[in-house]
Amino acid sequence: MVWERETREYDGKAKRVWSVRGAPDLVILQFTDDATAFNGVKRASIPDKGRINVEITTHLLERVAAAGVPTHLVARQGEDLVCRRVSIIPVEIVVRNVCAGSLAKRYGVPEGTKLAYPLVEHFYKSDKLDDPLMTEEHAVLFGWATREELAVCRALALSVNDALKAFWDGLGVDLVDFKLEFGRLPDGTVVLADEITPDGSRLWERGTGRHLDKDVFRRDLGDLSATYRDLYARVFGRPFVAGS
Ligand code: TMP
Ligand code: ASP
Repeated sequence: MVWERETREYDGKAKRVWSVRGAPDLVILQFTDDATAFNGVKRASIPDKGRINVEITTHLLERVAAAGVPTHLVARQGEDLVCRRVSIIPVEIVVRNVCAGSLAKRYGVPEGTKLAYPLVEHFYKSDKLDDPLMTEEHAVLFGWATREELAVCRALALSVNDALKAFWDGLGVDLVDFKLEFGRLPDGTVVLADEITPDGSRLWERGTGRHLDKDVFRRDLGDLSATYRDLYARVFGRPFVAGS
């Protein structure tokens, strides 16, 4: 089955959303080479990022699905991810195993401090407001998700963490943190949506602490395209070949 892009519905910061010809219950997420940071303040085009991220996200979504987490994934076609159409729950769930990034800054706890158990944080998905941190109570009170949906999101996010931690562990990489988004299918079922990529995760090489994620771009630590090609080779056991 080949799915065809129809109408361009929405341009995100690193992905484009298309309707699918003849399949109103599906969408195509096109992964582009665009990189942004600090809510779009910093921008660049990173060679091969779209293709690398779509392959990594497919692999990781398949892994978490095998671990029992329902996802929106249908198939990958080149740089496109064919997905079930969901209505996105505007609550970004961040799971953290090690203190880093905004957590370190917010509380003055040094980056690299191991957390005794995974921390689940909620952020309101709003570019206009810069995705503010919130509690589950805010999400329920303002009608962004029900208590039941949030309980499902938390449980699924922790299952994703278990599966991803084990996966990265086997590759000599520490999973520091990552962000997930969930959506509702037409029947109300909550599924993992969006992507799981080094754009939305922190991945530190065990031993050296080298960043294998978008912090390389956010913090000007080196060549993001080379970093992502290195990560690709670790995940798939072969070098990335452009255009393949
Ligand atoms: P933070 O430490 O900046 O809050 O980021 C936590 C994790 O969430 C990190 O792995 C990067 C990811 N993330 C996104 O995917 N999108 C965002 O807009 C932000 C701020 C973070
Ligand atoms: N995703 C946000 C942006 O694209 C923030 C980040 O990832 O640092 O600007």
